[in-house]
Amino acid sequence: MSKKNQIKAVRGMNDILPTDSPLWLAVEAVCAGIFSQHSYKQIRTPMLESTHLFARSIGAETDIVSKEMYTFEDRNGDSLTLRPEGTASTVRAGIENGLFYNQQQRLWYVGPMFRHERPQKGRYRQFYQMGVECYGWSTPDIEAEVLSMISQVFRDLGLEKTELQINSLGDSATRERYRTALVEYLAQHKEALDEDSQRRLTTNPLRILDSKNSCVQAVLADAPSILEFLSNDSAQAFEDLQAYLDALEIDYTINDRLVRGLDYYNDTVFEWVNADYGAQSTVCGGGRYDGMVEQLGGQATPGFGFGMGLERLVQILQEQEAPIVKDLEQGAPDVFLVSIGAVARKQAIAMQAEMVRSGLHVQCHMGDGSMKNQVKKADKSGASIAVIIGDDEAVAENASIKVLRRTSDSIPQRTVLQNEVVNTVTNLLESL
Ligand code: HAM
Repeated sequence: MSKKNQIKAVRGMNDILPTDSPLWLAVEAVCAGIFSQHSYKQIRTPMLESTHLFARSIGAETDIVSKEMYTFEDRNGDSLTLRPEGTASTVRAGIENGLFYNQQQRLWYVGPMFRHERPQKGRYRQFYQMGVECYGWSTPDIEAEVLSMISQVFRDLGLEKTELQINSLGDSATRERYRTALVEYLAQHKEALDEDSQRRLTTNPLRILDSKNSCVQAVLADAPSILEFLSNDSAQAFEDLQAYLDALEIDYTINDRLVRGLDYYNDTVFEWVNADYGAQSTVCGGGRYDGMVEQLGGQATPGFGFGMGLERLVQILQEQEAPIVKDLEQGAPDVFLVSIGAVARKQAIAMQAEMVRSGLHVQCHMGDGSMKNQVKKADKSGASIAVIIGDDEAVAENASIKVLRRTSDSIPQRTVLQNEVVNTVTNLLESL
């Protein structure tokens, strides 16, 4: 087939190749382990949802809903959308399955999300999020638990230079008062605002704080701060959260311009930002959303959570050459099994199964191949030991053991009975 006719992946959607997948698995395992240690349970929701779900929860004025959703009609004419994030689906599933009735929930999820954004480094149209959502707690202690978990994940992964920013958006009365003050201020600088921001002055002025436009940013430098408008309860909750973070020794900065790209938040919002990564520097973001369950038809239930972008996290770990990346690079098999002829091959396959049962990592040569060629492959695989079953060994039911990687003096090749191979190899590996 000519190159022109070759079918390619959809723009902004990536394959995760075997060179990178060990790191992905390791990152997911570290997160899942820490979430589980904190008593969080996994929830899996469908990738397709009814379009209304996102319009009603994320907000019609957000970029996500107004410009970025993959929405289409299915064969029945129902409007469906590929989920752009995991929170709305979790709330929908919780309401539908009665998870919020007189119960509190600590949940986590992982999976692909879809947003039709302009692709660039760290920004894709299909991307993976690992996220957490908690339901039934309105106090900052749960926020501290969640932020502590994220900090633990970053510590275990050896991630560096990633800093926590926090802000409070207050309750709805706070935002109402702030909105009036912000509009009053921005209206005086209307000519300096871009088209999007001018429109948002009437539709959703807080979204303007999220603008990336440099002229708008310059105007925002002297805009009033939402923190001056917090009610007593919201101010107290924000102070309490800071006291928890101090006790946990988690560094943070207060960023009173942080509003996040979704409309469902109240009170605490946060992002972890990696300064070295470039424009898409937010690794993880979240906050409190006490109104969403009720808004989607459930009984009023407070919510708090975050989503972490796995592509960004993996790329930063690779760029930082984190210890976990180096450890995985050394992940060669313990043993390479060389076999010549049909009888030897059957013995080798049985031996591989036995070795795996005893916890070894094994690669077995498949098909024909000369002894020389197979030993070369064994060397290339990075295995510490080659176990060789040639014609003679197959008849005598023994095997030769050749150490390929050694730290000190060379260890001579030896022949043992096949039923002694696993023990011999295990002992040898310990001594290398
Ligand atoms: P978000 O800030 O839209 O929040 O996304 C969370 C994270 O997903 C971002 O910080 C980023 O790392 C990653 N991300 C977002 N868009 C892309 C993209 N196009 N390409 C690559 N990575 C991306 C949410 O989605 C909320 N649901 C978080 C949340 C959960 N809030 C409360 N609970």
